[in-house]
Amino acid sequence: MMTKNKKLIDWVNEWAAWCEPTNVQWCDGSEEENQHLLDAMVASGMATKLNEEKRPGSYAFNSDPSDVARVENRTFICTTNKEDAGPTNNWMAPDEMKATMKARYKGCMKGRTMYVMPFSMGPLGSNIAKIGVEITDSPYVVTNMRIMTRMGKKVLDLLGETGEFIPCMHSVGAPLEPGQKDSKWPCAPSIDDKFISHFPETYEIWSFGSGYGGNALLGKKCLALRIASKMAKDEGWLAEHMLILGITNPKGEKKYIAAAFPSACGKTNLAMLIPTIPGWKVETVGDDIAWMKFGKDGRLYAINPEAGFFGVAPFTSMDTNRNAMLSARANTIFTNVGVTPDGDIWWEGIGTDCPAGTIDWKNKVYDPASGEPCAHPNARFTAPANQCPAIDPSWEEPAGVPISAILFGGRRPSTVPLIHESTSWNHGVFMGSIVGSEVTAAAIGLKAGVRRDPFAMLPFCGYNMGDYFGHWIEIGEKTTEDKLPKIFFVNWFRKDNGKWLWPGYGENSRVLAYIFDRCNGQGEAVNSPIGKIPAPNAINTEGLDMSADQIKKALAVNVDEWKDEVALIEEHYKMFGNHLPKELKEELVGLKKRLEM
Ligand code: GTP
Ligand code: SPV
Ligand code: MN
Repeated sequence: MMTKNKKLIDWVNEWAAWCEPTNVQWCDGSEEENQHLLDAMVASGMATKLNEEKRPGSYAFNSDPSDVARVENRTFICTTNKEDAGPTNNWMAPDEMKATMKARYKGCMKGRTMYVMPFSMGPLGSNIAKIGVEITDSPYVVTNMRIMTRMGKKVLDLLGETGEFIPCMHSVGAPLEPGQKDSKWPCAPSIDDKFISHFPETYEIWSFGSGYGGNALLGKKCLALRIASKMAKDEGWLAEHMLILGITNPKGEKKYIAAAFPSACGKTNLAMLIPTIPGWKVETVGDDIAWMKFGKDGRLYAINPEAGFFGVAPFTSMDTNRNAMLSARANTIFTNVGVTPDGDIWWEGIGTDCPAGTIDWKNKVYDPASGEPCAHPNARFTAPANQCPAIDPSWEEPAGVPISAILFGGRRPSTVPLIHESTSWNHGVFMGSIVGSEVTAAAIGLKAGVRRDPFAMLPFCGYNMGDYFGHWIEIGEKTTEDKLPKIFFVNWFRKDNGKWLWPGYGENSRVLAYIFDRCNGQGEAVNSPIGKIPAPNAINTEGLDMSADQIKKALAVNVDEWKDEVALIEEHYKMFGNHLPKELKEELVGLKKRLEM
């Protein structure tokens, strides 16, 4: 044991006695420890070591087909009063949930090692950072958490004898009987045995039954979003599902932008974008989560609490996201991708043909004629952020980076134009509250269609979403409007005759450049019923492979479509009842007036 923190020791001892692991291992985060775990997983058949020449220090894992993404219908916010969890979260009372889960945790680590991982979300010692300790019986989780967080002994040192930590309890829920052979990907067999539970009143996380992504790497969505969003409300800051990027114009002026898009809607891609317009540069601070606090100057400063990228693999290529591909060139864990005969990785849209004999994510020789994908649509790479060629020099700045603009967006095949700008902070909060997107592969068990995903936080808000809207309104009252980030809504996914109108990816730099200029008091905008839109020619379209008609369609605000949208917003707003801030009701009234409804 490497700590004298009594609270931590007691917590670990209690769970060790209850879960009955064969042994308990405190993780120091060292290279040797990591290699030892990886070697053991290769030996047991759980991991495949990739070709050392092509993909140094990298490993591939295939999950159980029942355990491929976050399980939103098994994710719970456990508050004393149901109303505090709000209408968008699954709820159970804390005592009831703890009793239910304790029964499952009893003896759940038999035949396994219990790992104890101290980790920091955010640069070590930053006053925005938070310390967590995760208990897990999955060595796969340990090796991933080592990439995604600052993990190990240095965190224990920082914690000292009396430091506070957020306890994060995790088990894959698959005890081993003596002599029983382990499966390649242990997890609880039935969906009803999986629980991803949060106790925002006591800042605790209990997870059982899944070993995948946000269900198991508890620093990510569970701590840095669900628990942190509640802490942020209590303490007056923001914990958001946002990328952070730095953008420099041809004159060398730099600004930082944060953007909230729902899962699998382009955050990693935008964060690592390579501009197609000459002279502009984009650098990456974070690709998934932003914690923002007010600085002494009254501006919002953001840190990326993570230390790695857990990025969607399919359709990531040297063409679409070169920086992500290069981030994952070494020391990367791949989950549910194809493995080629020469020991490299392959997935749909990687930009090369699939070599014959590639093993698919279901551990079978891939058959292109089967109609099934080689990589699971939610296959992911776990790569260290400092391997990103475009990592921002300030990405570990403890004080964070000043945010000039906040973007909201999602996959909207119709109605929502390429870009529009809010007329005030509260109007921007309204925009965030109506974010919606076509359902994609990052979560299990959702109906297809457009679903509202306010602030891209629907699966990640740790308390009543109506009160969360109110928190955003209050944040706007803490400083002057000129110091607040400007708020924009973007949509790369508008369609015409079933095809994307906008080429997206690197071409999104044209929209970022316009946003940059708007933040500098430049870039001409005109009013529309839904907000400010670019004046004709305000967006640089030189060299773009689009007809004038297509550009017009991408930017168009169609009043009839928006009248239909208003009806959907009214429906969406109903569920928040008296938790919906009056400011947002006023914004909706204003929108209807401008649409002449
Ligand atoms: P999470 O990690 O789940 O939070 O996802 P994310 O928001 O980081 O999404 P990501 O950047 O991984 O993109 C998801 C999918 O959207 C990928 O298949 C991308 O190729 C696609 N995508 C990203 N940006 C664009 C774009 O500008 N246009 C189009 N058409 N597709 C895009
Ligand atoms: C998301 O779904 O938004 C992700 C992947 O970033 S996971 O970490 O699994 O939540
Ligand atoms: Mn995400």
